Amino acid sequence: MVWPITAQRDAREALSIGGVSVAELASRYGTPLYIYDEATIRSQCRLYTQSLTQAHPRPRVVYAGKAWLSLALLKIIADEGLSLDVVSAGELYVALEAGFPAERISFHGNNKAPDELKMALDSNIGQIVVDNFYEIDCLEELTANRTEPFPVLLRLNPGIDVHTHDYRKTGIVDSKFGLGIQTGDAACAVERLVNAPGLVLRGYHAHVGSQIFEVEPFVDTVNAIFDFAGEMKERHGVIPDEMSPGGGFGIQYEESDPAAPVEEYIQAIGAAAQMAARRIGIPDPEFTIEPGRSIVGTAGIAVYTVGATKVIPGVRTYVSVDGGMADNIRPALYGAVYSAELVTGRKDEPVELVTIAGKFCESGDVLIDKTTLPQLTAGDLVAVPVVGAYSLAMASNYNMALRPAVVFVSEGETRLVQRRETFQDLVQRDVAQMTGG
Ligand SMILES: Cc1ncc(COP(=O)(O)O)c(C=O)c1O
Repeated sequence: MVWPITAQRDAREALSIGGVSVAELASRYGTPLYIYDEATIRSQCRLYTQSLTQAHPRPRVVYAGKAWLSLALLKIIADEGLSLDVVSAGELYVALEAGFPAERISFHGNNKAPDELKMALDSNIGQIVVDNFYEIDCLEELTANRTEPFPVLLRLNPGIDVHTHDYRKTGIVDSKFGLGIQTGDAACAVERLVNAPGLVLRGYHAHVGSQIFEVEPFVDTVNAIFDFAGEMKERHGVIPDEMSPGGGFGIQYEESDPAAPVEEYIQAIGAAAQMAARRIGIPDPEFTIEPGRSIVGTAGIAVYTVGATKVIPGVRTYVSVDGGMADNIRPALYGAVYSAELVTGRKDEPVELVTIAGKFCESGDVLIDKTTLPQLTAGDLVAVPVVGAYSLAMASNYNMALRPAVVFVSEGETRLVQRRETFQDLVQRDVAQMTGG
């Protein structure tokens, strides 16, 4: 399914989400507009929580905030009982501003600056996921005088390849993330951590990539990190209290390309984790998963207004919309594929093959390479589903674009959760320069 669970079309083919007319939202808030369905977000949170609770005796579901963060979203995530992973001081700041419980926050990242680490320590977050030796150096210094050692996990690189875009692979040996098991770095890091008085090694983490559709790489990851834990238990007596194979569960972007049900992944990795714990002779540690995309991806749709059309006979028809790579860079960045529908369908009209282009000054600013829609004219509204993750999170002001407004809809009610940027926002950071004289 590519649309939010509450998406409906009425007798006139008009799209509504969460019981609210999409055309009315577009007219009230303008376009490009991002609409999130609260029911879909909550239902994904519950699906993961329930599935993991069935699959493992010590479940922990963490939302990977990099997929998209806002104060309103964080309130829902907290309310649904999920924990949170942040990857920068900025994400941590937003989480703390939202009042997200600090003890439920983990801090990831391959190059955390000393200031960021200090902020995490001072905020008493749940744990830091250590990624490299530089970070161990910094943390040793920052925690030297602590009375209570600070909890850390170690991010392992298990050397596992997955079928996804190269930019989304993070668990292969040639990756900037994590300490290699095969290279021996991970074992050296454990030795450093067990001898660091200000730190306590709680367990191991790995994340091998994103938008993964097979169960096997997750099971392989679970086995790899538990086997490593077994070795470290023999060598240093470390018994992990938390283990995590990360996130990266694939979601459906096109009607023709369904993803495996979440329960299938979770059942398989939960069982693998319990078997692996028996194999290496430890009690079941807390078992953590970190979905990001699959919590918010399908909940979000983008609405654009059609402007110019360019017909190149025998070549292609470009239909340009009022957004593009500034609000959603995924197609330009890694060839992400999307679909589109008219906000008010015209079922009986013939369709034509078109390219939906963005409005930004890059030839690569194409949102959808090929789609079939009724003939579009200026002013038509098109909706693009599955944009809830990694779109706004990567949005920019390229060409001085104003980042879009975001609304949440639920049971016929609408809340504006992020206003559209204004022209004033575009110069707010500039330090005014005198001209002339
Ligand atoms: C450490 C870690 N955990 C979880 C995730 C979430 O991945 P996804 O949004 O694909 O579920 C990521 C994404 O890059 C990650 O780096």
